Amino acid sequence: MIAGAPAAGKGTQCQKIVDKFGLVHISAGDLLRAEVASGSESGRKAESFMSQGYLVPNELVVEMVKTRLSQPDAQESGWLLDGYPRSAEQADAIQEAGIRPDVFILIEVADEELVERVTGRRLDPETNTIYHLKFKPPPDAILNRLVQRSDDTEDKLRNRLATHHKNVEAVVGHYKDMLVEVNGQRPMDEVFAEIDGVLSAFTEDESPAQQR
Ligand code: AP5
Repeated sequence: MIAGAPAAGKGTQCQKIVDKFGLVHISAGDLLRAEVASGSESGRKAESFMSQGYLVPNELVVEMVKTRLSQPDAQESGWLLDGYPRSAEQADAIQEAGIRPDVFILIEVADEELVERVTGRRLDPETNTIYHLKFKPPPDAILNRLVQRSDDTEDKLRNRLATHHKNVEAVVGHYKDMLVEVNGQRPMDEVFAEIDGVLSAFTEDESPAQQR
């Protein structure tokens, strides 16, 4: 599992982890955005919360995530769960279903850094690559097709951050015995080098908690 404040770099690190370790990336935010794009009733309800930066109610999220985790690709290759759980209730819900991670990575970045990260983020809808106008500039040839998320404004970030701070301790409390805290306020490759070390040690059958 990977957690952190909005724009802390979860998605960026997930892309790198998937490339190296071949896990199936399951992002609660991406699942919800796909539901919104489908135009379904659930998607319409979810959008009203997401557009304000609030958590989507559990009845719309929990089954969605549990169903995705149970699919054959995730069962066979292993999963990397991003942005779930975000509350004690969500952690309880998957615990009751017998779902526990091997490692819980918390990426830590100070709030002041996140405004610049969120407002400069751009996404390539063709490759799903995450760019940043300053920190990871996109190639000129694709500039016209890049999109900006509707919740990537400073105002909405404030709500998303308040939600994060309200819930993070309770979530982390569920995973204390497998928690790895990573300083996310470094260049992306440095952050990944640390995560790579943790996961590589784990795949060599050593507990990451004992590595630190
Ligand atoms: P979600 O999509 O999960 O958004 P989030 O948690 O706010 O996280 P982000 O995707 O914004 O950021 P990230 O940490 O992935 O950062 P990234 O790598 O892109 O959730 C959206 C909404 O859905 C929520 O607000 C809520 O409404 C709903 N939702 C989701 N899950 C839910 C749940 N479980 N329950 C209920 N509701 C739920 O990086 C950001 C930028 O910074 C990029 O431009 C990147 O290039 C740059 N960057 C990354 N790392 C670095 C670095 N080290 N240095 C400099 N720049 C960097």
